[in-house]
Amino acid sequence: MADEMLSIKGVSKSFGGILAADKCNLTISRGTIVGLIGPNGAGKSTLFDIVSGFQRPDAGSIAFQGKEITGWPAYKIARLGLIRTFQIPHALTRMTVLENMMLGKQGQIGERICSPIIRFNIVRAEEKNIRDKALEILEFFDLGHMKDEYAGSLSGGQKKLLEMARSLMADPQLLLLDEPFAGVNPSLSERLIERIKTLRQKGLTIMIIEHGIPYVLALSDWVYVLNKGAVMAYGKPDEVVSDKRVLDDYLGDGCDAQT
Ligand SMILES: Nc1ncnc2c1ncn2[C@@H]1O[C@H](COP(=O)(O)OP(=O)(O)OP(=O)(O)O)[C@@H](O)[C@H]1O
Ligand SMILES: [Mg+2]
Repeated sequence: MADEMLSIKGVSKSFGGILAADKCNLTISRGTIVGLIGPNGAGKSTLFDIVSGFQRPDAGSIAFQGKEITGWPAYKIARLGLIRTFQIPHALTRMTVLENMMLGKQGQIGERICSPIIRFNIVRAEEKNIRDKALEILEFFDLGHMKDEYAGSLSGGQKKLLEMARSLMADPQLLLLDEPFAGVNPSLSERLIERIKTLRQKGLTIMIIEHGIPYVLALSDWVYVLNKGAVMAYGKPDEVVSDKRVLDDYLGDGCDAQT
């Protein structure tokens, strides 16, 4: 299908006796925001790990923009434009916010040039471009004023924002966000909703793992529900959250419907 960004077919993964992904089938259309919900331990982050190459599936296949990427290493998948954030942010705490951002840029031209003089000039020009881009993205996430702070001094919510901001440095086409609102205060969360919608308007395709149902309803075009590793329901957000099975199995257990 021409507008199919990601196709997950029959993906399974066990850890010892735990079936973290159980024959999962999911499809993401280009330019949409897809919510992935389910109780703690349902296998949501594991699915992100598998799609982004941090875990290999035991069975099944994954195609990104029609290209088979099953079992590819994470760096190779990232180069194609499929970028994920982590539930627990991975900021380098002893580097500044801006330095963290600049490290998020992959495949910098200077890395591939051999002549030291040419390399020096290109690297300098390229570094300025990367810096300008980093500052622009930091402003977009209201983190511009923190650029020279150590990442380790940021609050939990700000670290989540930095993680998302850094992921944009790699020019993703598909962004997988693992609980982007966790630890982010309510007023900042409202702004974050608008920022994520803006990214969709700019053409980015996004998949979001989120426990806060109001955020899922505000953002998603489509929702998948995982339970015990399996897709138990999917559909339009308002239909999914009013599905009795979802209410019984999920909304009563481990999800924050009041957020
Ligand atoms: N690397 C691993 N080794 C062993 N077990 C794992 C590993 N990663 C995940 N699991 C197990 O797989 C199951 C699914 O975990 P996962 O982190 O994917 O759930 P989740 O839906 O993201 O939960 P949460 O909402 O709490 O983040 C859990 O039982 C978890 O303990
Ligand atoms: Mg998780």
